[in-house]
Amino acid sequence: MEKFRLNKIEQVLMGTTYDIPPIWLMRQAGRYLPEYREVRKKAGSFLDLCYTPELAIEVSLQPIERFGFDAAILFSDILVIPDALGRKVDFVENRGPVLEPLSLSDIAKLRPEDVLSHLDPVFKTVSGLREALPAGTSLIGFCGAPWTVATYMIAGHGTPDQAPARQFALEHPVEFGKLLEIIADASSEYLVAQLQAGAGAVQIFDSWAGVLEDDQFEKWCIKPVNRIVSQVRQKIADALVIGFPKGAGSRYDTYRQKTGVDGLGLDWSVSFDQAKKLQSEGSVQGLLDPVRLVAGGLALDEGIDRIIENLGSGSLIFNLGHGITPQTPIAHVEQLIDRVRGR
Ligand code: CP3
Repeated sequence: MEKFRLNKIEQVLMGTTYDIPPIWLMRQAGRYLPEYREVRKKAGSFLDLCYTPELAIEVSLQPIERFGFDAAILFSDILVIPDALGRKVDFVENRGPVLEPLSLSDIAKLRPEDVLSHLDPVFKTVSGLREALPAGTSLIGFCGAPWTVATYMIAGHGTPDQAPARQFALEHPVEFGKLLEIIADASSEYLVAQLQAGAGAVQIFDSWAGVLEDDQFEKWCIKPVNRIVSQVRQKIADALVIGFPKGAGSRYDTYRQKTGVDGLGLDWSVSFDQAKKLQSEGSVQGLLDPVRLVAGGLALDEGIDRIIENLGSGSLIFNLGHGITPQTPIAHVEQLIDRVRGR
């Protein structure tokens, strides 16, 4: 693993600054790419795609081959953890994930002992990817944060504000805490195995961190992510971790301090003043509204230039403030990369 520490993303996470920041995009392997849609068609179900190393490697490599990003991200999904814990998980075309909603009595029936063996194909994907990638390209592994994963387990599908999980947490805090511990422990083992298989850094996606009140944020976002980071570092002391608590707002600061993550993924609601302050304490990535990438043209150029002007002289990984959307034109991704790299 050591030699991959020479790669730019890992270096930035350790505090290096580059004239041209390294770039990758959240959800860079996905439906905006025709070659992804081709593989997706022949894979069968979405989970089959995640659990077939040969195909998962192929789709992870597609954005690297097409655009030459500085990092590949493992192709998988945050919901493989509930699947591995024994919950029923499906991905329905045009509807997104559908799970069997979790009730109180289901918590004791989760099967943490099966997680690593169930996810073995993912580790094969990671090691195969590391072999296939150019030596200078980073490989990022990931998992969902316990809070975000639990919101889907409880509601059984995506919701606009994750009210079902918020209500569950308020009505049954002890049981909810237990659930998050089970998810955190499974995710820790999952990330350690990804790092051992060849990932150079891992990202923890907390896409729904922003819907929590302050005290709930502390309990359900910070505490379980800290549990993961600590457990991972017990096994791999120098593990590099990016935290992405989307919508954390004024709480980004305490999030980094209390979770111990190296890099912070910032969504597009963060001001440059706040972003600069956060960057003075460690590396940052993100900020660009994914809709600017859909709009293209001047709106995209201006968005990119502002980020470089404000944050380019510190530790920066260029990225979006959330995942790339399926309607993004490929030409706009090319425009983005050329602009960031000064071509
Ligand atoms: O390129 C990459 O970034 C790697 C793969 C990746 C996927 N999901 C593949 C995927 C990653 C990192 C994720 C993370 C993920 N999954 C998150 C956190 C990031 C975020 O966007 O907020 C969340 C909340 C999920 C759960 C999930 N998976 C949802 C809500 C959906 C449906 C909505 C959607 O964007 O399609 C998925 C399905 C999914 N995961 C797809 C892909 C490529 C599309 C399904 C398909 O191709 O049929």
